[in-house]
Amino acid sequence: MIEQLNNLKETAISQIKEAKNADDLEAVRIKYLGRKGEMAKVMGLISSLPDSEKPAAGRLINQVKPLLEEEISKKQKSFTLAEKQNPQSKKDLTMPGHRFESGHTHPITQTISDICAIFRHMGFAVVEGPEIETEHNNFEALNIPLNHPSRDAFDTFYIKNEFLLRSHTSPVQVRYMTKHKSPLAIIVPGKVFRPDAVDASHSFMFHQVEGLMVDERVSLAHLRGVLFEFCRQLFGEDIKLRFRPHFFPFTEPSAEVDVSCIICKGAGCSVCSQKGWLEILGAGMVNPKVFKAVGIDSEKYTGFAFGMGVERIAMLKYGINDIRLFFENDIRFLEQF
Ligand code: PHE
Repeated sequence: MIEQLNNLKETAISQIKEAKNADDLEAVRIKYLGRKGEMAKVMGLISSLPDSEKPAAGRLINQVKPLLEEEISKKQKSFTLAEKQNPQSKKDLTMPGHRFESGHTHPITQTISDICAIFRHMGFAVVEGPEIETEHNNFEALNIPLNHPSRDAFDTFYIKNEFLLRSHTSPVQVRYMTKHKSPLAIIVPGKVFRPDAVDASHSFMFHQVEGLMVDERVSLAHLRGVLFEFCRQLFGEDIKLRFRPHFFPFTEPSAEVDVSCIICKGAGCSVCSQKGWLEILGAGMVNPKVFKAVGIDSEKYTGFAFGMGVERIAMLKYGINDIRLFFENDIRFLEQF
């Protein structure tokens, strides 16, 4: 047994030395040190030895095994070194390493932060409100009467007694004015919910950015100035703005605001349906009834408010023709931003 072990050691060492490459070496390692290798076989024989020989054999095995392991690791190092020093080596060690793929913010998140950044520079504070609202904040305080279609169960996700998924970001006006009074200038990004059938331009969940400014002598001219500056910064210097009379219960007067088509510059194209204008938001002067609901003196203070759809703005800005792309999480789409 002792002799057998010594022979095994000698042949193993010479085979390790003869190995020409890492694959050879690995084969030798498995042959001798593998689970079913030569060393394992010899160890299996120990139990059949007479007791008097067992300790010596065990001792020898405990010496041979680490010796072989060391020889193998020495040889391995010599291969790696040779590889590094060999000018013909296929490996180019000056190549950059593997880059980790890093993600980035979603195009809607980016658009929201672009919008907020512009208003922040004009002095607006960014605030948020809850997605589950009370009927009071979402409707009553905003002067939306009981018979208004948006209060219908088919037009709103009701949860239970008085609670619903907010259908717009305007209830945050109510929350903020109730707490902070005047003067104030805020911008409110967030999710809103309407049970619309999903198609290329509708989704049951989308994002809005609400704006609100209240102070003494705030006028429609301020609203127009702020929105004009916003559109110039978002869409470009040569943009034009148009106010069309409209109706919202919480603003009076109210308007829908269009920008000159950013694709055709107003000449008429398929994006603007040949009109030359694109509707981007709703706006108006805060209705005195809303001030009354939040306890602000409408004799002393006036204000303007506006609300825009973020998906719509992102679609116009990036030339996207289907709102569903934002929510499908297809990496091929998202990677482009
Ligand atoms: N809340 C309105 C909507 O969702 C938008 C709006 C906000 C209009 C503020 C006027 C003032 O359609």
